[in-house]
Amino acid sequence: MSIFDRLNNGIDTNSPDETIAVAALLAKALPSEAILTLEGDLGAGKTTFVKGLAQALGIQELITSPTFNIFNTYDSGSTTLIHMDAYRLNPQSNVIDELMLEDFMTPPYCLAIEWPSNLGELPWPVTIQLEFTITAAEKHRIRCIPG
Ligand SMILES: Nc1ncnc2c1ncn2[C@@H]1O[C@H](COP(=O)(O)OP(=O)(O)OP(=O)(O)O)[C@@H](O)[C@H]1O
Ligand SMILES: [Mg+2]
Repeated sequence: MSIFDRLNNGIDTNSPDETIAVAALLAKALPSEAILTLEGDLGAGKTTFVKGLAQALGIQELITSPTFNIFNTYDSGSTTLIHMDAYRLNPQSNVIDELMLEDFMTPPYCLAIEWPSNLGELPWPVTIQLEFTITAAEKHRIRCIPG
């Protein structure tokens, strides 16, 4: 089963390393211009997932939550990873057009956005929308939600 089919069904992970492994599988299957939205509660595993994307893309730097900046960019030498965390943005502020993200969106790139609901409608087509939850059994579930 492809990683996309598995994500459509939902994948439960038992550890951060398992979440990283799922992200790595997805990273290998992404198109050269990939936009991922990562929705879900605090601590559900979104940033952990981005760490897995980064590893698979060959990025050596440590991925940390972009707390003071709204987004961080990383370059593996071939692929650019743009990690955005919109948690602190006011949903009404409509900042997406002012961030000049396009300046970094030179293929191949992967743009991963935590808390996309704070950005309203994105000006680009989203490749895959992911939802992160913690299940009653304390597993971390990653699921692809239909666009
Ligand atoms: N199966 C798992 N997958 C991912 N993280 C896990 C798992 N099990 C435990 N954890 C822990 O849960 C936490 C997930 O934190 P992470 O920063 O990835 O969440 P987040 O969704 O980005 O939260 P925030 O909305 O605050 O940015 C980490 O402390 C991680 O070690
Ligand atoms: Mg996070």
